[in-house]
This record gives sequence, C-alpha cells and structure tokens, in this order.
Amino acid sequence: MKDVKLNELSPAWRELYDAAVAARKNAYIPYSNFAVGAAVRCANGKIYSGCNVENASYGLCVCGERNAIFHAACAGEREMTELCVVADTSGPVSPCGACRQVMREFGIQTVILANMKGDFKITTVEELLPYGFEL
Ligand code: THU
Repeated sequence: MKDVKLNELSPAWRELYDAAVAARKNAYIPYSNFAVGAAVRCANGKIYSGCNVENASYGLCVCGERNAIFHAACAGEREMTELCVVADTSGPVSPCGACRQVMREFGIQTVILANMKGDFKITTVEELLPYGFEL
C-alpha cells in the first residue's frame, strides 16, 4: 500500500478521483450522513461512478463502491481495471469487506483509497482481500 498526494496522482487516477468526488455529491444518506463516492474504470477505458444509497431498513443500504461496480455491470461491462473510493475521512477511506469481494468479481486490480483532502493510498484487491471467495 503506497501513500500518494494529490499532486503525485497520474492524470488517469486524477480523472477517476474527480469522478468519485462528483458521484459523492449524490449520496443518499439520511441515516448516517456519511457520504461515499466511487468510480471504476473498465478495460475499454470507460468510467462509471456510484454513491452510497441508504434505506429506512438499514440493512438494505448499498455502498458507493458496489453501486459504481453494479452501474458498470448493468451497462454490460465485464472487465474492470481500477476503482477509486472517496469519503470525508481523516485518512483515505477503507472499503468494507463486502465491497472488496465485489471488486474481485470483475477483475479490478488497482484500488485508490482517498479522502476529500487529497490523501491517497494506492493498493490492490489482492492486498485488501487475500484469499477471497471464488467458485
Ligand atoms: N459505506 C460505503 O459506501 N462504503 C464502504 O466501504 C463502507 C460504508 C456507506 C454505507 C452507509 O451508507 C455509510 O457508508 C455508513 O456506513
């Protein structure tokens, strides 16, 4: 896991971060007031984004990362390469276990953890989810 600052991000990663920050604005968070944005880049270069969407039945809340990945999957994408997730946390936000397993499904390798201040950790799904489930 590598620490990176905003001015060290490659243009491609900056684009993904900007898409995640933009998606975060649509977070539906009446219960937690914790907004999350995510963006995933596919093998064909397209970017899809998502935010967390909560529900009065709390267990039905869906994370921003999964919504971004499912957004891409619903558009027909099956090969994804990298994902960025952002929240207003003191350090780069760390994805939940369920989202780590979903990242694994579509081949995402690089994961960019970020916060709104521009702190980043660059990591991989393998590092976040060693020995993940597969059939
Ligand atoms: N959340 C995410 O969007 N991503 C994560 O990786 C962890 C948590 C959301 C779910 C809920 O809407 C809020 O953050 C508080 O848990």
